[in-house]
Amino acid sequence: MSPSRIGGVLVTGGAGFIGRALSRRAASGASRWVALDVLNPRIHESPGRPGGLAPEAELVVGDITSPADWDRVLADFHPDVVVHLAAETDTGLSLDHPTRFTRVNLDGTAVMLEALSRHGVVPRQVVVASSRAVYGEGEWRTSATGEVGSRPLRTQLQLERAEWDFAGAAPVASTAGRTRENPTNIYGVSKHGQEGILAAWCGARGAALTVLRLQNVYGPGQSLINPYTGILALFVRTAAGGSAIPVFEDGRMLRDFVHIDDVAAAFARAIDPALALPENTCLDIGTGRPESVLEIARAISRAYDAPDPVITGQFRNGDIRHAWCSVDDAERVLGWRAAVAWEDGVADYARWYIDREVPV
Ligand SMILES: NC(=O)c1ccc[n+]([C@@H]2O[C@H](COP(=O)([O-])OP(=O)(O)OC[C@H]3O[C@@H](n4cnc5c(N)ncnc54)[C@H](O)[C@@H]3O)[C@@H](O)[C@H]2O)c1
Repeated sequence: MSPSRIGGVLVTGGAGFIGRALSRRAASGASRWVALDVLNPRIHESPGRPGGLAPEAELVVGDITSPADWDRVLADFHPDVVVHLAAETDTGLSLDHPTRFTRVNLDGTAVMLEALSRHGVVPRQVVVASSRAVYGEGEWRTSATGEVGSRPLRTQLQLERAEWDFAGAAPVASTAGRTRENPTNIYGVSKHGQEGILAAWCGARGAALTVLRLQNVYGPGQSLINPYTGILALFVRTAAGGSAIPVFEDGRMLRDFVHIDDVAAAFARAIDPALALPENTCLDIGTGRPESVLEIARAISRAYDAPDPVITGQFRNGDIRHAWCSVDDAERVLGWRAAVAWEDGVADYARWYIDREVPV
């Protein structure tokens, strides 16, 4: 990216997994790049500036739920672009600690907008990292009729009977604008709420809103101390320790694992002013190529010479069965498509785990 084309960029949660990768890709093209991050100790191993944040990025340690922290940032900085990444992301905790999610993801977003208003700032563009969690179980096509519709969260009884899929129906790739939002966990509700709060404010103030709904992001730099980071990190830890990976249900649930480099590239495209995205854009970001969890577990086991994964038949209430998306719109609008195949990406991730004194 040529220097200073983007203008000033403020990235909330900018020292996190995606924020650091994005900074390495795009900060040199901005006139100023400020990462506002509380350095949540559940994610960051040490309280200092994390390795892997681009040298051009200024790190402001602060909390998006604190008006005073916003006043500190906005006193001398009126960003052209806000990339909103700061969030509570531990889906598994969201039932036991719902207020964490409403406080940071919903209130934090509202506090940010109030601060921008207080300082008279209307960014040209706001980009938010939303999630595939807004779709919940997503849509399924009934085999007999061809009808497509959302399904509710699977019940405890269904799961106890090992009825993993919805009988007589096949899952359909999620597509923003077509698939109904139907979040089934509190994290998903909070991400959907974030989208709504931002749409209302950006629409009224004339800022372009870009919502990127991410599938499962993985790769070097993902927090390894956070037990809720996602199944890939868990699988890698288990196989690297020489144990067989336990795989829930029947192992055939589908996921769309998208590599961090591809996700950073999608955000970089989204903030490229040459694209001049329309006022309200909502895109799915994944590979568009789902893979079964069992197949991924097998590939990771092979990478570490660990025993074959074991299908346990266990389940977790609230887990959705399948998740992947169509990437046609992202390709058309952003001129972007994921370049890293999961087979290569997973091997790269496994190598990084072994050699992880190299910070990213
Ligand atoms: N990684 C994924 O698989 C994935 C999938 C879908 C959506 N997302 C979304 O992408 C965004 C970034 O995710 P990530 O994977 O980089 O997560 P991450 O946890 O690595 O990064 C989030 C960052 O936000 C910071 N943060 C948390 N609460 C904050 C607060 N109150 N004030 C300021 N900073 C705060 C954390 O310290 C962390 O550095 C999140 O909004 C998440 O919901 C991620």
